[in-house]
Amino acid sequence: MKKLIVFASGTGSNFQALADHLRTRSDVAIGALVCDKPQAAVIGRAQALGIPVITIDYRAYASKAAAEQALLARLPAADLVVLAGFMRIVGPTLLAAFPDRIINLHPALLPSFPGRTGIEDAWRYGVKVTGVTVHYVDAGIDSGRIIAQAPVAIAVGESLAHLEARIHAVEHDLLPRTVDQLILKGAI
Ligand code: GRF
Repeated sequence: MKKLIVFASGTGSNFQALADHLRTRSDVAIGALVCDKPQAAVIGRAQALGIPVITIDYRAYASKAAAEQALLARLPAADLVVLAGFMRIVGPTLLAAFPDRIINLHPALLPSFPGRTGIEDAWRYGVKVTGVTVHYVDAGIDSGRIIAQAPVAIAVGESLAHLEARIHAVEHDLLPRTVDQLILKGAI
């Protein structure tokens, strides 16, 4: 049985989509949700699914390294870490613990529009095509090796809210499919 750990900070719609998909498989499951925001909606989603929740308050530690060290001690064994709306940069401590085993979902076509506001940045720039990327996490910001991408054409006059909804729908499809592909390829 392959085990995933999902890291998320917010709404958790991608966590939900991944968990819903994985319920159709008997050989892989989410072993834990890690959340750095005690009020985040994603926590309730995990609880409703019976998935253990590990909350971590980074501010309670002297450094990111200390927080990650404490977190590592609480994590179950895992074959893959999935960042799904986790709004922190992963530090060297976590990266070293999961070499080539941490992936991130980003709501733009990297290397264009990295960072926290990828959907809005693409929309404001006026590109005609944006999209969704799943990539390995390295020490940079949204800079690791690309695993999968899906394009989303921006319609003339499309509102930001409309584009956001369409990007999220593509994310909900691409992330579970990419996890399936990684397992199929034997990458995890
Ligand atoms: C997604 O757009 C993801 O790409 C970005 O943060 C958002 C998380 O949304 N990194 P949700 O919490 O999964 O609903």
